[in-house]
Amino acid sequence: MKLNSVIFKLGATILFLQLIILIPLGYIILQLLLNYSINQTETQLAQLSEKYATQVHHLEDPENFQLLDHLTDMTNTSAVIIDHNGEKIIETNWKEGITDQILTDDQKQQLAEGKTVIEEYTNNGSTYLKVAQPISDDDGERASVVLFSSFGLISNSIHNIVILVILASLGAVALAIGFTIFISKKLGAPLIAMEKVAKQIAEKKDFSLRVNYKANDEIGSLATAINDLSQTLERYQTNRNEFFSNITHELKTPLTYVKGYANAVRHEMYQSDEEKNEFLEIIENEADHISNLMDDLMDLSKIEEGKIDLNKESFDMNSLAEEMVRRSHFRAAQKDLELYAITPKQPTRITADKSRMEQILTNLVENAVRYTEEGEISVKVLENETNVEVFVQDTGIGIKKEDIPYLFERFYRVDKSRSRANGGTGLGLSIVRNLVELHEGSIEFDSEINKGTTVKLTFPKLSKEE
Ligand SMILES: Nc1ncnc2c1ncn2[C@@H]1O[C@H](COP(=O)(O)OP(=O)(O)OP(=O)(O)O)[C@@H](O)[C@H]1O
Ligand SMILES: [Mg+2]
Repeated sequence: MKLNSVIFKLGATILFLQLIILIPLGYIILQLLLNYSINQTETQLAQLSEKYATQVHHLEDPENFQLLDHLTDMTNTSAVIIDHNGEKIIETNWKEGITDQILTDDQKQQLAEGKTVIEEYTNNGSTYLKVAQPISDDDGERASVVLFSSFGLISNSIHNIVILVILASLGAVALAIGFTIFISKKLGAPLIAMEKVAKQIAEKKDFSLRVNYKANDEIGSLATAINDLSQTLERYQTNRNEFFSNITHELKTPLTYVKGYANAVRHEMYQSDEEKNEFLEIIENEADHISNLMDDLMDLSKIEEGKIDLNKESFDMNSLAEEMVRRSHFRAAQKDLELYAITPKQPTRITADKSRMEQILTNLVENAVRYTEEGEISVKVLENETNVEVFVQDTGIGIKKEDIPYLFERFYRVDKSRSRANGGTGLGLSIVRNLVELHEGSIEFDSEINKGTTVKLTFPKLSKEE
């Protein structure tokens, strides 16, 4: 595990927090225990000395000594009796090092005044507690009983507790380390796998890679996000490749014609001037085709990148439909097709980009003329409360149901050679759909083979910004 890894930092933080909590907690517990023990011992000694004081009848009585001996034995304490001159009368259970000076002058004074003396002191590194109490026997003889307890005993149990606290701390540290290792396996493994996949995607451009991790948490969401990203990139890459191969193909065909016919003209391979003009016309048409293709591509890329701004204005859709019909009239007439507009009497006001709307209708009417051999073509405008609808209807070759979903794809043509023969590039409907969507509108195809096609456009009268 690297020192700067997230898991290591997490583990170190847990450990640090544990120590921050455990050390003061241990110290506080120790102090509490120590105070409790001292208080307990104090109370015990005080009770003991009081008990003794009430049971003493004659100071010089040997029974007296036995009583004291018995009491100190039972409680593991030491005791001395001092007469009113400060002389030691008896001592029991005496242990070396407790003290040389049993009572200070001050303490003797306090005892003489009938007060109890309590003192905690250290001698040779050990801590002791001393409790002295004035006593008087049945003869009125006054003396003092002094009891001593060593903290050696007390600290023994405290010592055990300290060991327990240290063991608990070590256990906690071991737990923290175990937890860190567990977390590093649980969190670290998927994170490392994701890092690896992300690096490979970035460096090797292998967008087919996916992270194999599923969980209902943040790491799971991150894995899904990385997979979505690589899927988007993969789709983008496929699109781009298809796009380039399409363009190359689309350019190759007209260029082959241009080259072939230019060559024929240069080597005077024509029979007559008429044929020469025919060849030159083909060259011109193919050059126009390339030029149209370039224009359409530029337009499409600008629209798809969101680089075009709509110049919205309010205009009458009826007039626009009629204008479109007028413009294409000549081309329809060339094929003996009837072309007309059906519009409401009242103007149909709409707020949209007029020139883009023109582009949409031109494309649809052009398609209708291009893919209809006989019959008629109509452009109908309808209006309801919220929308303006435009129908471009023809009696042409129609489109199979299964082809309809693909019409908007770039370069998609149902019948390639037929479309090409008519000068089509297969970009028209892609541009149309993008423009319709920019206007928050929708486009639908309804078609039947050899019967005709109806394209329905729906636009909101007012776009969202207004
Ligand atoms: N009204 C229609 N009737 C029958 N087929 C149609 C009609 N409109 C479109 N299509 C089919 O949909 C295909 C895609 O149309 P689109 O307008 O995108 O391309 P195009 O007309 O071939 O070329 P261009 O880019 O010049 O418009 C056409 O090639 C044609 O096969
Ligand atoms: Mg078209």
